[in-house]
Amino acid sequence: MTPIAEILAQEIQAGGPLTFHRFMSAALYHPEHGYYRKPRDPFGRGGDFFTAEQVQPVFGILIAQFIRRLREELGESPEFRVVELGAGRGEMSVALAEFGYTAIDVDRGALPDAMEGVIFSNEFFDALPVHVVKRVDGGFIDRRVTFRDGTFHWCDGPPVSGAIAEYAQQYAPDAELFEVNLDALEWMKLIQRSLRRGFVIAIDYGYTNREAMRFPQGTLMSYRRHTAHDDVLADPGERDITAHVAFTPMMDCRLEVVRFETMMQMLMRAGEADQFAAAMAANPQQLKTLLFGMGETFRVLLLRAGK
Ligand SMILES: C[S@@+](CC[C@H](N)C(=O)[O-])C[C@H]1O[C@@H](n2cnc3c(N)ncnc32)[C@H](O)[C@@H]1O
Repeated sequence: MTPIAEILAQEIQAGGPLTFHRFMSAALYHPEHGYYRKPRDPFGRGGDFFTAEQVQPVFGILIAQFIRRLREELGESPEFRVVELGAGRGEMSVALAEFGYTAIDVDRGALPDAMEGVIFSNEFFDALPVHVVKRVDGGFIDRRVTFRDGTFHWCDGPPVSGAIAEYAQQYAPDAELFEVNLDALEWMKLIQRSLRRGFVIAIDYGYTNREAMRFPQGTLMSYRRHTAHDDVLADPGERDITAHVAFTPMMDCRLEVVRFETMMQMLMRAGEADQFAAAMAANPQQLKTLLFGMGETFRVLLLRAGK
């Protein structure tokens, strides 16, 4: 058993089944044994997954071009800066250095009390712990995690209440199982408080409410050595766990929705300025990977605060 499995199994023995939120928080972010907190690097060829940010320098070149346009729209404000949420290995730090870049991750950085500029993220919201809800006749129940015969299993918990019930009432898709990402909505509140004037760029796997019917069993996935698995309860601490981002609740926050598009559309817009000359000169193969390999899968939500 992994160290996290032992910790979680003991918690279940002492207090009964756990919420999936607790399970995922410990599996990914336990300070010592969590997947993202251990010395082993989960990113890249020797790790478990690639992100667009690792396609450097081309991803950095295009995102910097895109952000320069946004800065122009804000009248080249001298206060302009870029903050990245869930910066991981800090892949964007070189490309975004010209904007006074700040990286935030679990072990570093924090949103400023007040800022002007861009709050950027790539695969941040899909890494936040979620609750899992099951639709039953006449309502919704919270799915829990129990431990039996040396392995973790799903079990039915109590009817949902509080913020999860409110979320389910407003956004429940026509699916048997779905995730509720309250942490994402908390982050949106923090962003609204911090960003006086500027833009939010959120890049992630995800869906709108109208598309949610594509996922009748929810969207949880785990990743190990570049292979996706749907058993997210196995080997906690040893695999990444993600949930596709529900973009509709994020669009319903108090920021103005400027655009919701595929990453390909966003990168095409960014490359327009010089017909992709800078990206082509740097690495044409990377440009192909970003546009055609990843471009259709990822979505980009662009929000605006202030004028
Ligand atoms: C899938 S990785 C993406 C990293 C990077 N953006 C990339 O694209 O390569 C998700 C990152 O979000 C970070 N993260 C998760 N929860 C966080 C939180 N509450 N505060 C700050 N960072 C968090 C994780 O530690 C991890 O580095």
